[in-house]
Amino acid sequence: MILLTSDTETKPTHAMRQAIASAEVGDEQKGEDPTVNQLLERVADLLGKEDAIFFACGTICNFVSIKTHTRPADVVLAEEMAHIIRAESGGAAMTSGVLMEPISSERGIFTVNDLERSLERVATAPYLYSATPRLLCVEQTHNFGGGSVWRLDELREVCEFSRQQGLVTHMDGARLLNAVVASQTTAKDFAACADSVWIDFTKGLGAPIGAVLAGTKEFISEARRYKHIFGGAMRQAGIVAAGCLYALDHHVERLQEDHDNATYLARRLSEIEGITVKDTKPETNIIFFDVSRLGLDKVMFLNLLQEHGVKMGAVGNSIRAVTHLDVSRTDIDFAVDAIAKVAKSSVGSKDLENVVPFKENSAIASTNTVRNYHFCPNCGHKNLPNHNFCIKCGTQLNELTNTKQTDKY
Ligand SMILES: Cc1ncc(COP(=O)(O)O)c(C=O)c1O
Repeated sequence: MILLTSDTETKPTHAMRQAIASAEVGDEQKGEDPTVNQLLERVADLLGKEDAIFFACGTICNFVSIKTHTRPADVVLAEEMAHIIRAESGGAAMTSGVLMEPISSERGIFTVNDLERSLERVATAPYLYSATPRLLCVEQTHNFGGGSVWRLDELREVCEFSRQQGLVTHMDGARLLNAVVASQTTAKDFAACADSVWIDFTKGLGAPIGAVLAGTKEFISEARRYKHIFGGAMRQAGIVAAGCLYALDHHVERLQEDHDNATYLARRLSEIEGITVKDTKPETNIIFFDVSRLGLDKVMFLNLLQEHGVKMGAVGNSIRAVTHLDVSRTDIDFAVDAIAKVAKSSVGSKDLENVVPFKENSAIASTNTVRNYHFCPNCGHKNLPNHNFCIKCGTQLNELTNTKQTDKY
């Protein structure tokens, strides 16, 4: 099976496993694990920050950072499709009691004007009534924006303005090193724009566990308390930090291969009739495309594709493909052939004049258009086409047999 669902699909290489097996270890919670400490020094230096702290994953880096920077009822501003808003189960609201203010943008990269508009909205009511804006979050690269890269000048301008407004800035750098490789800008330069920043080792870098958050000594000291409170402290964590160190030494420069493969995939897919690629020149390793012109909804498409040996995922109404360490150019060719077969076996785009792209369906609810609902195999709930999970009971909706195409509405 070719796994293009996410760059988290990578498996540790043999050499990485050897580095893991021979790691020196100690008690991480007490700050006594030599391999973790070595990793923290490396990352603090890479990002030009005073101190750093080790976590199991990136989501908790975001939660701890938000908790450290804010007080309950503060406003956190982030791009409207930011991972923090759309893909962390609302955890920032639960762990920090903050209000999220979405910033509109093109592909995740917003401008000072966009930020200004959001700040104005936050300040709609007089001082006593409006919530206090405290933190700006930026995502580098932007996942749901299609792996888009903030240019250094764009980032500097927005972060400088944010500082002038009295906000602190946090960078979700899950794929910061993809941005570094794609833009030939140093991680230090990007990181200098933000007060706190983290990088993930489990994406394109190919490690099984690990993320490192960096900032001032004071910030990290406070973050350490929250790490402990959230149950994030570890013991002999050197065995996972060794995988992260190995990734820093061996898997950073090769990210360019993933970017080249994504560009190649986007170009090949755009040649298939019925497939609409959102950006035929992706900046990094993520591409989005639409299959509604094939007369298939995303769940049907993904199931058919899987039958041809390729797994991808869906975000909203689009299909997302992410290239990574474990996917070669040959695998990409295989995936393109599989998609071409699915496209060929579906309704030809010339027959689709009467099929309305799923995205637009809700706007024309009174017409006689065919719509695919997903009936939950567990509770029977009728879910909308863009739902991967049953909104009633949470069951995953990936059974072709549970899709009914004949409903009129
Ligand atoms: C932009 C972004 N931020 C945060 C995360 C969460 O990282 P983790 O899976 O390590 O918790 C992800 C995961 O895909 C991501 O893409």
